[in-house]
Amino acid sequence: MTMKLPAFLLVLTALLAPHVSSRQAHSKRLTGVPNNPNVLGNALNFWTKLETGGWDLTRGATSGSISLPMPQKGPILIQPNATALVIIDMQNYFLHESLGGDPLGRAIVPTTINLLRAFRAAGMPVLWTNWGVTDFDIINMPPSFIQGFSSDDTSLTSFGSEMGTVVVPESDQSIAANSTTPGPNITIDAGRKLTRGSWNAQPWGDLFTEQTEGVANGTDFYFNKNRLSGLWGPSTPLQTFLQDNSMTTLFFGGVNIDQSTTSPLFATQMVDYNVALDGWRTNSTGILPALMNATKA
Ligand SMILES: *[C@@H]1O[C@H](CO)[C@@H](O)[C@H](O)[C@H]1NC(C)=O
Ligand SMILES: *[C@@H]1O[C@H](CO)[C@@H](O)[C@H](O)[C@H]1NC(C)=O
Ligand SMILES: *[C@@H]1O[C@H](CO)[C@@H](O)[C@H](O)[C@H]1NC(C)=O
Ligand SMILES: *[C@@H]1O[C@H](CO)[C@@H](O)[C@H](O)[C@H]1NC(C)=O
Ligand SMILES: *[C@@H]1O[C@H](CO)[C@@H](O)[C@H](O)[C@H]1NC(C)=O
Ligand SMILES: *[C@@H]1O[C@H](CO)[C@@H](O)[C@H](O)[C@H]1NC(C)=O
Repeated sequence: MTMKLPAFLLVLTALLAPHVSSRQAHSKRLTGVPNNPNVLGNALNFWTKLETGGWDLTRGATSGSISLPMPQKGPILIQPNATALVIIDMQNYFLHESLGGDPLGRAIVPTTINLLRAFRAAGMPVLWTNWGVTDFDIINMPPSFIQGFSSDDTSLTSFGSEMGTVVVPESDQSIAANSTTPGPNITIDAGRKLTRGSWNAQPWGDLFTEQTEGVANGTDFYFNKNRLSGLWGPSTPLQTFLQDNSMTTLFFGGVNIDQSTTSPLFATQMVDYNVALDGWRTNSTGILPALMNATKA
């Protein structure tokens, strides 16, 4: 009865330099903006319309690029050395059965794992972005967030509160122990709510192994976040990594398409990234074949 759901993705392409905004009349030439009607952007940060339809997002670095089909406005041409897969919030807190987690979130884990393996194989990093607050973050947390993560409208059950223990089968710690689960059970301290290093904040099930091994192998990177988005300010760890590594195209995969996945989009707009808000949405089924195709042996 394993469900074979695709993992949904949003694609975001970001800029290297602040974009040139202008209120000038349309007829006027804009300083630093190419006159070519097939080019959107400026000399450092641009997309080029493909003759066959779709967009080239490589900013001129087409050697070794990968073409991915997209349901709308596609295909897109991406440069693997400037592209990353961002996995958001696939944590026990949001997914684990014993914590009332989302069954649909659990159902997309197998395809998410296929997807992140395909990104790694094609030479693109996997960036894990998870809630992992510190006591300092809790002091600085706005009341709206404290309320949003509280179970009784008080701070006492919100970030950093002790969540108690959960009983899980020793053989499969990603599910809840019950009367029909065979084998011995173990009791796990779920830890303080969404705090860094706690069990409830770690990736769910096999994703935990993927994350720890991937980070050890150097293909994956782990970023703690302390707001809905890992990109809400100019100096979040994720933001700094993206700038240091000249990443311009991001694929977002995660559980809450309405919150975690769209809030980075809004946040990146606020911090002056170019965002294709209603641009490219796809799922793993749509792009896996092309990614596998691109894998260098
Ligand atoms: C990425 O690949 C392109 C095309 O091969 C190359 O021009 C560029 O220097 C590479 N960038 C990095 C950061 O390696
Ligand atoms: C116990 O958990 C297993 C695995 O999640 C599930 O298939 C089974 O239906 C559960 N049994 C009861 C009595 O809830
Ligand atoms: C622990 O596992 C046993 C089967 O080995 C099961 O009978 C029991 O109900 C489980 N305990 C809990 C708390 O679910
Ligand atoms: C880490 O690298 C080892 C050795 O190459 C490999 O067997 C393993 O699958 C890798 N793990 C992940 C999660 O990529
Ligand atoms: C996944 O994407 C493919 C290709 O765009 C599409 O045909 C399919 O309907 C999508 N699946 C779901 C469940 O949305
Ligand atoms: C796989 O690569 C071949 C050769 O480059 C190409 O013709 C084919 O369209 C690709 N298939 C996919 C699914 O991208």
